[in-house]
Amino acid sequence: MSDTVLKQFTPTRRKEAEAGRTLNFGIIGTGWIAESYAENIINMPDIKITAAADLIPGKAERFFKNYGIEGVRLYPDHSALLESETDLDAVCVCTYNMTHAVCTIDSLKKGLNVLLEKPMCVTLDEAVEIVRAEKASGKILSLGFQPRMDENMRMIKKIVESGELGQVYYIQTGGGRRRGIPNSTFIEKKTAGIGALGDIGCYALDMVLNAVGYPKPLTVSGYKSAFFGPNPKYNNPEDAARFNVDDFAAAFIRLDGGIILDFRIAWAMHIDTPGDTIILGTEGALRIPSTECWNGSVGGPMKLYRDVAGSNVEMEIPLYDDGELFFKKIRSFADAIRTGGAPPVPSSQILYNQAILDGIYRSAELEREVEIIIPEI
Ligand SMILES: NC(=O)c1ccc[n+]([C@@H]2O[C@H](COP(=O)([O-])OP(=O)(O)OC[C@H]3O[C@@H](n4cnc5c(N)ncnc54)[C@H](O)[C@@H]3O)[C@@H](O)[C@H]2O)c1
Repeated sequence: MSDTVLKQFTPTRRKEAEAGRTLNFGIIGTGWIAESYAENIINMPDIKITAAADLIPGKAERFFKNYGIEGVRLYPDHSALLESETDLDAVCVCTYNMTHAVCTIDSLKKGLNVLLEKPMCVTLDEAVEIVRAEKASGKILSLGFQPRMDENMRMIKKIVESGELGQVYYIQTGGGRRRGIPNSTFIEKKTAGIGALGDIGCYALDMVLNAVGYPKPLTVSGYKSAFFGPNPKYNNPEDAARFNVDDFAAAFIRLDGGIILDFRIAWAMHIDTPGDTIILGTEGALRIPSTECWNGSVGGPMKLYRDVAGSNVEMEIPLYDDGELFFKKIRSFADAIRTGGAPPVPSSQILYNQAILDGIYRSAELEREVEIIIPEI
């Protein structure tokens, strides 16, 4: 990474835990995704959930009762938890998007390590404040992109880094669902802030940006729409009535290093997929099959296209049957705390992911191309 913003980002981290000591974790937000934390932490004898908070009265209590996890101190919101708790090592921020920034910043200011769910937040301004708080704290902040733990995803990066593709100049990415609009807190601005763009768009961007070393985004021409979510013909009437985020987004993004990124994402549309992810290079190309229910995973065996001895050849990359991505996501974060190591999914990268989401949103609102300007951190 060549960018000056990233070069400045060199936090000094204290080696947190002596080997063997139990790490005390807090869970902020005990909704749907928090279930994957409880289910996996139960299987990590060196981590204990000692505190949790949720805004909805009784929700956290029911949550831990359901998992048979006892002795967790419960609070009505993240502020109360942070004020009272004195022996936490880390918190997992599992709230809806609109409170990602405040929960993360407050936790870092309290000197806690943070595992923050995706997307990083809603706006670029929030992301910048998060990274500033991380830098000031010297603590570990990792982002909850579990597809990063997938060997198939790692293979994409390995192929690009091996030079098999030569110089990458064009990437088409994204994914979509013919019908796959979530409900609950995903579909309202007051809780989610952004729709499909943030929910699954961040995965599509991460898949390819991570592979090519997260070059800085420069400009974006973005589009967003919502023709399905608010329509009771395609969504249940109650959800349709409160739906006020995007369900489709597309963009043309220029990246540092002359790479063009062509992006599209959908929670619903009249087709099964908006296309596979393709990475075009001067020496070869890679096709990454899309999935029916896009959630950031590789949909089938990838194909590598090259010229060999003057002939066009295609090579199939076998699909690796990887599992336990949520376990690995939490485990790698805990290990980084123990060793004082680098965060598995660092904010310095996801800042660029968020900058693109923010750029697409702004550009779509303004109906013109916008520059992506990332302030000094
Ligand atoms: N990594 C994944 O695969 C994955 C999957 C689903 C959701 N997510 C992400 O997880 C986040 C949460 O999604 P969800 O479906 O669990 O939402 P949810 O609405 O089911 O749960 C969020 C909970 O956070 C609580 N909350 C909000 N602000 C709070 C605060 N300040 N203090 C304490 N509690 C607070 C809410 O009361 C709510 O119960 C979203 O950002 C989503 O994008 C990630």
